[in-house]
Formats: sequence, C-alpha cells, structure tokens
Amino acid sequence: MKRLLACCVATLSLCSASLTSAADAQPITIRFSHVVAPDSPKGQGARLFKQLVEQRLPGKVRVEVYPQAQLFSDSDELQALLDGKVEMLAPSLAKFSDYAPELQVFDLPFLFKDMAAIDRFQHRPQGRQLLLSMTDRNIIGLDYWHNGMKQLLATRPLRLPAEAARLGFRIQNSPVSVAQFAALGATGKPMPFSQMRTALSSGEVQGTENTWSNFASQRLDELQPYVTETNHGVIDYMLVSNARFWYGIPHDIRSELEAIIEEVSAEVNRKAAELNAAARQQMLDSGNVQVISLSDEQLQAWRSAMQPVWQQFEAQIGAKVIRAALRASK
Ligand code: LMR
Repeated sequence: MKRLLACCVATLSLCSASLTSAADAQPITIRFSHVVAPDSPKGQGARLFKQLVEQRLPGKVRVEVYPQAQLFSDSDELQALLDGKVEMLAPSLAKFSDYAPELQVFDLPFLFKDMAAIDRFQHRPQGRQLLLSMTDRNIIGLDYWHNGMKQLLATRPLRLPAEAARLGFRIQNSPVSVAQFAALGATGKPMPFSQMRTALSSGEVQGTENTWSNFASQRLDELQPYVTETNHGVIDYMLVSNARFWYGIPHDIRSELEAIIEEVSAEVNRKAAELNAAARQQMLDSGNVQVISLSDEQLQAWRSAMQPVWQQFEAQIGAKVIRAALRASK
C-alpha cells in the first residue's frame, strides 16, 4: 500500500512538473522583417499573418513585424535569416539568385502573360518544387505571395525600347534585370529598395521598374513624371523561413502555422491586383504622372528587345522550368 502511495505521489509530481513547464514555456517568437510599406500587398500579408497567429495560437507563438527595412534591408535580410536574427521574410523572387538560380525564371521578361499565368505556375508541381529549391542552404519556402506586374517609371516618356538607351535604372539585385536593361542599351543599377527613392531624386538613376503599389507607396510620382505600362515582368514573393527553425517548431503548432499561411496567401493573392489598381489610380489622381499605354506594335518591340535574355539564362534556370512556366501562359 505504502509503495502504491509513493508511486502515485511520484507520478503526480511528475505530471505537475510537466504542467508547470508547459505553463512556463515561452512563446515561440517569429520576427518577420520586410522592406516595403505596411499598406503594400506584402505589408498587409505580414500583418494578417500576425493577427491570425495571435488569435489562434495565443501564448504559443508571438509575431513581430518589422516593415520598411527597419531591421534589415534586402541586401542583408537573407543572411540575417540564416544567422537566426529573424525567423520569417518574404523577399521578392528576384532576390534569391545567389541561392537558387532556377528561381530566376520569375525574372525573365515577358515570360508570363499575366498574373493568372504566374498563379497557375506557382500552384503546379514545378512551382511547388521551387519552394524547396533552397533547403540545402537551410531556407524553406512556405508559399508564394503576389504583388504584381512590373512597369517602367522614367524621367522621359518611353514608347519604344530605343528611348530607354543610355538611361540608368534602379533594379533589384538580379542578374536577369541587369541583362534586360543592357539589352536595351541602358544600365541596370542594383540597389536595395530602401535606396530607390534617394537614387531617383538625386538623379543617380533616371528610372526604375516596379509595380504600381511600390511606386505609389514610395511616392515616386513626386520624382518621375512618366510610367510606361509594359507589364514586362513580375514582382512576387517567396515567404521563407530558416529550415532548422521551422522544423524545430512542435508539429501541432507548425501544422496550425501552415494552415494560417495558406489562408493568408489566398487573401494576399486575392487582394494584390486590387491594391495595385488603387495605387495606379492614386498616382493618376496626384496629377504628377502620365501613363503611357503601348500599342500592340510598340509592345512587340519591347518584347523583341528584351526576350533574347531568356537564352542567356536558360542553362542556369533549366529549359524544363522555362517550358513549364511557358505552359502556364497558354
Ligand atoms: C524591390 O526591391 O523593388 C522589391 O523587391 C521590393 C519588394 O519587396 O516589393
């Protein structure tokens, strides 16, 4: 009897010790750093992620969002992820070329006909596989988030590719973008997003390529008067985490986080086009900007000038990946 009692006491104290440690467990903190404005598609996605995580995993996971390169700029954020200084990022797909050259497929000019084609590609097996293209570098892709199609903003109206010659354009750190502007006889100057506004206002560059939402949220209408609607490429994101951190999260919590990500991605991707349309309208309403719409012939001239870049990158990206991306446009 005495032995039984001792056994019960020991079991109870073990139980209470584990309950105490569960109650004392610190929440997992996810620091989510990004470089754009809080009201951009990515900024809103990060906020929604925080809100849903804190509703559904209270006391278990805490999310801190750092927008506008407050914590890290896009030149050092991936290293910060690997060093465990942040746990989540959503860099533009153009920023992974040092980690997975095949992701440069998203940078090829005029490869995707529209956002619907990009969405299809991202949901097909080839696109899903690309989320895992950096696991050997300890980076896990969790999902894709949309922003939108790239347009050209410049000091002068650009109707034909030759008019871009000799201009300097701020670009993301993307070898494909460097080659794309070289193909126009222009110069692509890679620099972090946080330096774009200063470079445009100082005259260090005379133009840039980006989405309407990124132009408007940085108030670029105050700096450059012309936007040519080329839709020549895409700015989309990969939501990523440090793979060791991610797989270290207890399974039940990680599953809930994955379910939340699915929900947030659907919402970001549903709203991105709406946000870009509103940003375009905002730029027009400012009265500072003239939008240049291209005729079919003019558009074809831009396509012919930029498309030779595909061949330059085919070996790095892989013909199979390019073909799968092309199929998504059909
Ligand atoms: C850029 O650098 O232009 C973009 O990648 C910024 C962003 O994250 O949308």
